[in-house]
Amino acid sequence: MEKPAILFVCLGNICRSPLAEAAFRDAAEKAGLEAEADSAGTADYHVGSPPDPRSIEEASKHGIDISGYAGRQLAVEDFYRFTHIFAMDHQNLRNIEALRPEGSRAHVSLLMDLVPGREGAAIADPYYDGEEQFEATWEDVEAAARALVGRLAERG
Ligand code: 4NP
Repeated sequence: MEKPAILFVCLGNICRSPLAEAAFRDAAEKAGLEAEADSAGTADYHVGSPPDPRSIEEASKHGIDISGYAGRQLAVEDFYRFTHIFAMDHQNLRNIEALRPEGSRAHVSLLMDLVPGREGAAIADPYYDGEEQFEATWEDVEAAARALVGRLAERG
Protein backbone atom coordinates (compact mmCIF):
# COMPACT_ATOMS: atom_id res chain seq x y z
CA MET A 1 0.00 0.00 0.00
CA GLU A 2 1.22 3.47 -0.90
CA LYS A 3 2.48 5.50 2.06
CA PRO A 4 -0.22 7.97 3.11
CA ALA A 5 0.58 11.64 2.53
CA ILE A 6 -1.85 13.95 4.27
CA LEU A 7 -2.34 17.67 3.75
CA PHE A 8 -4.44 19.78 6.14
CA VAL A 9 -5.83 23.01 4.71
CA CYS A 10 -7.40 26.10 6.28
CA LEU A 11 -7.48 29.76 5.22
CA GLY A 12 -4.30 31.25 6.65
CA ASN A 13 -2.24 28.16 7.63
CA ILE A 14 -1.46 29.75 10.98
CA CYS A 15 -4.31 28.66 13.31
CA ARG A 16 -6.25 25.49 12.49
CA SER A 17 -4.26 23.50 9.92
CA PRO A 18 -0.93 23.65 11.83
CA LEU A 19 -2.78 22.22 14.85
CA ALA A 20 -4.33 19.52 12.67
CA GLU A 21 -0.91 18.65 11.25
CA ALA A 22 0.58 18.52 14.75
CA ALA A 23 -2.22 16.36 16.17
CA PHE A 24 -1.93 13.96 13.25
CA ARG A 25 1.88 13.71 13.43
CA ASP A 26 1.63 13.00 17.14
CA ALA A 27 -1.13 10.38 16.80
CA ALA A 28 0.66 8.68 13.88
CA GLU A 29 3.95 8.54 15.77
CA LYS A 30 2.26 7.07 18.85
CA ALA A 31 0.58 4.43 16.67
CA GLY A 32 3.79 3.61 14.80
CA LEU A 33 2.15 4.66 11.53
CA GLU A 34 4.40 5.92 8.76
CA ALA A 35 2.84 8.86 7.00
CA GLU A 36 3.80 12.20 5.53
CA ALA A 37 1.98 15.26 6.80
CA ASP A 38 1.93 18.95 5.97
CA SER A 39 -0.45 21.89 6.10
CA ALA A 40 -1.27 24.82 3.85
CA GLY A 41 -3.62 27.78 3.52
CA THR A 42 -5.90 28.65 0.62
CA ALA A 43 -4.85 32.30 1.10
CA ASP A 44 -1.37 33.79 0.86
CA TYR A 45 -1.70 36.22 3.82
CA HIS A 46 0.75 34.41 6.08
CA VAL A 47 3.22 32.75 3.73
CA GLY A 48 6.50 32.18 5.60
CA SER A 49 5.01 33.11 8.99
CA PRO A 50 5.11 30.90 12.06
CA PRO A 51 1.77 29.71 13.48
CA ASP A 52 -0.36 32.12 15.50
CA PRO A 53 1.06 32.39 19.07
CA ARG A 54 -2.23 30.99 20.41
CA SER A 55 -1.81 27.86 18.28
CA ILE A 56 1.82 27.51 19.37
CA GLU A 57 0.65 27.77 22.99
CA GLU A 58 -2.17 25.27 22.51
CA ALA A 59 0.16 22.71 20.91
CA SER A 60 2.72 23.19 23.67
CA LYS A 61 0.03 22.32 26.25
CA HIS A 62 -0.03 18.93 24.55
CA GLY A 63 3.75 18.60 24.52
CA ILE A 64 4.14 19.50 20.84
CA ASP A 65 6.37 22.25 19.46
CA ILE A 66 5.02 23.82 16.27
CA SER A 67 7.00 27.06 16.51
CA GLY A 68 9.17 26.00 13.57
CA TYR A 69 6.25 25.52 11.16
CA ALA A 70 6.04 28.10 8.35
CA GLY A 71 2.87 29.15 6.53
CA ARG A 72 2.52 28.29 2.87
CA GLN A 73 -0.20 28.50 0.26
CA LEU A 74 -1.94 25.51 -1.33
CA ALA A 75 -0.50 24.82 -4.79
CA VAL A 76 -1.57 22.70 -7.76
CA GLU A 77 1.39 20.31 -7.14
CA ASP A 78 -0.19 19.39 -3.79
CA PHE A 79 -2.91 17.45 -5.61
CA TYR A 80 -0.22 15.08 -6.92
CA ARG A 81 2.02 14.99 -3.84
CA PHE A 82 -0.69 14.10 -1.33
CA THR A 83 -3.02 11.12 -1.11
CA HIS A 84 -5.54 12.98 1.07
CA ILE A 85 -6.34 16.69 1.41
CA PHE A 86 -8.55 17.70 4.34
CA ALA A 87 -10.37 21.03 4.55
CA MET A 88 -11.11 22.65 7.91
CA ASP A 89 -14.34 24.27 6.69
CA HIS A 90 -16.71 24.50 3.73
CA GLN A 91 -15.16 27.64 2.25
CA ASN A 92 -11.72 25.97 2.26
CA LEU A 93 -13.30 22.89 0.67
CA ARG A 94 -14.77 25.00 -2.17
CA ASN A 95 -11.44 26.75 -2.71
CA ILE A 96 -9.55 23.44 -2.77
CA GLU A 97 -12.01 21.97 -5.27
CA ALA A 98 -11.65 25.07 -7.45
CA LEU A 99 -7.88 24.56 -7.67
CA ARG A 100 -7.99 20.80 -8.14
CA PRO A 101 -6.55 19.77 -11.51
CA GLU A 102 -8.46 17.34 -13.69
CA GLY A 103 -7.34 13.75 -13.07
CA SER A 104 -5.43 14.37 -9.81
CA ARG A 105 -5.30 11.50 -7.36
CA ALA A 106 -5.79 13.19 -3.99
CA HIS A 107 -8.98 12.49 -2.05
CA VAL A 108 -10.47 15.81 -0.90
CA SER A 109 -12.93 16.06 1.99
CA LEU A 110 -13.84 17.94 5.14
CA LEU A 111 -11.64 16.95 8.09
CA MET A 112 -14.58 16.43 10.45
CA ASP A 113 -16.12 13.91 8.04
CA LEU A 114 -13.68 11.50 9.71
CA VAL A 115 -15.34 11.78 13.09
CA PRO A 116 -18.48 9.68 13.56
CA GLY A 117 -21.40 11.98 14.37
CA ARG A 118 -19.56 15.11 13.16
CA GLU A 119 -19.77 14.50 9.42
CA GLY A 120 -20.29 17.71 7.48
CA ALA A 121 -19.16 19.90 10.40
CA ALA A 122 -16.72 22.78 10.05
CA ILE A 123 -13.85 23.53 12.38
CA ALA A 124 -14.67 27.10 13.37
CA ASP A 125 -12.11 29.78 12.52
CA PRO A 126 -10.60 30.77 15.89
CA TYR A 127 -8.57 33.72 14.52
CA TYR A 128 -10.89 36.46 15.82
CA ASP A 129 -11.75 34.60 19.03
CA GLY A 130 -10.11 34.00 22.38
CA GLU A 131 -7.79 31.31 23.58
CA GLU A 132 -10.66 29.05 24.62
CA GLN A 133 -11.56 28.73 20.94
CA PHE A 134 -8.07 27.34 20.29
CA GLU A 135 -8.76 24.67 22.88
CA ALA A 136 -11.95 23.77 21.01
CA THR A 137 -9.96 23.67 17.77
CA TRP A 138 -7.49 21.28 19.36
CA GLU A 139 -10.27 18.98 20.54
CA ASP A 140 -11.71 18.84 17.04
CA VAL A 141 -8.44 18.26 15.21
CA GLU A 142 -7.32 15.69 17.76
CA ALA A 143 -10.54 13.69 17.38
CA ALA A 144 -10.10 13.77 13.61
CA ALA A 145 -6.40 12.85 13.83
CA ARG A 146 -7.18 9.80 15.96
CA ALA A 147 -9.93 8.70 13.60
CA LEU A 148 -7.65 9.15 10.61
CA VAL A 149 -4.78 7.21 12.15
CA GLY A 150 -7.24 4.43 13.04
CA ARG A 151 -8.46 4.24 9.46
CA LEU A 152 -5.00 4.34 7.90
CA ALA A 153 -3.70 1.71 10.33
CA GLU A 154 -6.65 -0.55 9.46
CA ARG A 155 -5.86 -0.17 5.78
CA GLY A 156 -2.43 -1.61 6.55
P1 4NP B 1 -6.62 29.77 9.95
O1 4NP B 1 -7.09 31.13 10.67
O2 4NP B 1 -7.32 29.76 8.60
O3 4NP B 1 -7.14 28.73 10.87
O4 4NP B 1 -5.13 29.83 9.86
C1 4NP B 1 -6.98 32.38 10.06
C2 4NP B 1 -5.76 33.00 10.02
C3 4NP B 1 -5.64 34.25 9.45
C4 4NP B 1 -6.75 34.88 8.94
C5 4NP B 1 -7.99 34.26 8.98
C6 4NP B 1 -8.10 33.01 9.56
N1 4NP B 1 -6.64 36.17 8.37
O5 4NP B 1 -7.66 36.72 7.95
O6 4NP B 1 -5.51 36.72 8.32
